[in-house]
Amino acid sequence: MQYRHTFKTFFAVSVLGALLTGASPQALADNAAEAKPLELRRIMQELGKNMQAVTDGISREDWALVARIAPLIAEHPQPPAGEKMRIMAFIGADMGKFKGHDEKTHQAAQALEQAATRSDGQSVISSFATLQNSCLACHQSFRKPFVEHFYGQR
Ligand code: HEC
Repeated sequence: MQYRHTFKTFFAVSVLGALLTGASPQALADNAAEAKPLELRRIMQELGKNMQAVTDGISREDWALVARIAPLIAEHPQPPAGEKMRIMAFIGADMGKFKGHDEKTHQAAQALEQAATRSDGQSVISSFATLQNSCLACHQSFRKPFVEHFYGQR
């Protein structure tokens, strides 16, 4: 009896405390780590910006600029170890496929850099198209499941 009473009091105080600090029931239910944007998303946004810089370089035939940006795409940063583990746990057996897409992006960006270094406009454009296809291929397979899983959107 005594134990029960203590437990009830503890529970009531906890709920009150949560209400006083302004925590909504939704916030209490959510795992804070799960709701926070992935570092991967920030890395992707950076990739997007660098792709825009490349199209600008192509328009101006500024091959030096393209050659400078391409390695930033090829050697894009990776998420921290903890996030990688969450991603691997989610992707499971498809990890090989995911890494394969990343490898294609890496190779296409290297080809882009080489073409730009040679000031070979045609080749810059065709390797840029290959690079865009590599982004698209991964997004078509993985983006929606990621967003659903890590952010709970449909
Ligand atoms: C190996 C798989 C993979 C490759 C390759 C890949 N992406 Fe992504 N990308 C993702 C995933 C997964 C998401 C969803 C991440 C999220 O919402 O947290 C994403 C999301 C994005 C977003 C949206 C970010 C936002 O704010 O919601 C952009 C922009 C993006 N990628 C750009 C690129 C570009 C540009 C390339 C190629 C140069 C590329 N990605 C290659 C997996 C990939």
